[in-house]
Amino acid sequence: MKVTIFGTGYVGLVSGTCLADSGHQVMCMDVDADKISRLRQGQIPIYEPGLEAMVVENGKLGNLHFTSDAAEAVGFADLLFIAVGTPPDEDGSADLKYVLAVATEIGRLMDKNKTIVTKSTVPVGTSEKVRQAAQSQLDARGSSLQVSIASNPEFLKEGAAVNDFMKPDRIVVGTDSAQVRKQMVELYAPFNRNSDRMIVMDIRAAELTKYAANAMLATKISFMNEIANLAELLGADIEQVRHGIGSDPRIGYQFIYPGIGYGGSCFPKDVQALERTGREHGMQMSILQAVESVNNLQKQRLVDLIRQHYGNEINGKTFAIWGLSFKPKTDDMREAPSRVIMEALWQAGAIVQAYDPEAMQEVERLYGQRQDLRLVGTRDAALVGADALIICTEWQHFRAANFERLAETLSDKVIFDGRNVYDPDTVNEAGLTYYAIGRGASL
Ligand code: UGA
Repeated sequence: MKVTIFGTGYVGLVSGTCLADSGHQVMCMDVDADKISRLRQGQIPIYEPGLEAMVVENGKLGNLHFTSDAAEAVGFADLLFIAVGTPPDEDGSADLKYVLAVATEIGRLMDKNKTIVTKSTVPVGTSEKVRQAAQSQLDARGSSLQVSIASNPEFLKEGAAVNDFMKPDRIVVGTDSAQVRKQMVELYAPFNRNSDRMIVMDIRAAELTKYAANAMLATKISFMNEIANLAELLGADIEQVRHGIGSDPRIGYQFIYPGIGYGGSCFPKDVQALERTGREHGMQMSILQAVESVNNLQKQRLVDLIRQHYGNEINGKTFAIWGLSFKPKTDDMREAPSRVIMEALWQAGAIVQAYDPEAMQEVERLYGQRQDLRLVGTRDAALVGADALIICTEWQHFRAANFERLAETLSDKVIFDGRNVYDPDTVNEAGLTYYAIGRGASL
């Protein structure tokens, strides 16, 4: 099949590349001509394991094409995906200007009937607005062409995006047309062979499914973080509690890891947008409000522990930080808890000496001009001259540490672990004080 994807961000580029890899002919379109010319040379703008090699390979095979020419993009296929960004508006609702601009452009340029599939995360009712935006262009030029629509939200996780697309838990398709349903079944057939993972539903239900899924996952995390903070007050170890509750299959082990709060480009934005949708319909989304406020507090949690430990005297201290991206296997710094932590430390007069396996370039872009930030090339270099170590992201690379060496190097002999990576007893045996989330301090 031939398919065009508008938007070469995470979702667009991963979807386009994986569809091309399965044998479809894919055109990826982006208004950023520089980005397109780099993509044509196989340079991808994000770090995502496995993606770059696939872009190069499918480019060579002739399955994957890139353009910044909207007319070429619209003319290429009858099935057109919108996967452009929906940044939050000032009031927290999703800003649809890019999505609707693409729809308008399609309506302006199409010369046969087309199907527009919305893949961006968009509020309920947006697919209908997409149809109207395209259709109004057709009406304006007196055309009798028809636009069909579908909602096909994406559930991939950064860092595991290729695998998530290739082996999906579910393929949600919202449509009101039997013909679109047929198109989508054919498109996803290569990823849907062993058992049928396609769930076809109404358009509005598909749109809400995406938000409900992310909001539920964010809720699990905030719930666990709140229980972790209580566990600390009660002298209970949250890691034992986590094992205890995760063993119930109705709860499950996934997404109940306490930490320094969720970040990234999805959960914070989607929780806010859903809350806003509720408000627009006269409904107060109490759970979501609590999820968000618990998360905002949780991003400060480690800073509170640091302040407590030092009796608020951290001016002039040097903190080594391991891990800055919002989670492992990505270079994404959007809404990363590390940012809140670094900014609080700087405000209190401390110096940060940081290392991340992938996010250094992005951190340099964000904070490069600061005098109180030193970016270093290895985890060991971050420790040199540091008073204490903070762990913000649980990269695999940090899981095994030489605690004896840490105790010799860190002058205050203390670790603040925002991801509960280590066994407290092992850390303590080396003579280090260890703070984690929901476990209390251990000395
Ligand atoms: C999330 C969803 O997991 C995907 O299913 C969804 O498609 C995607 O958003 C999206 O809407 O595009 P992602 O933002 O890549 O994916 O990252 P997650 O792996 O979900 O992690 C989000 C945050 O939650 C991270 O900061 C992570 O550290 C935190 N987290 C996760 C916890 O604090 N505890 C956990 O147990 C799990």
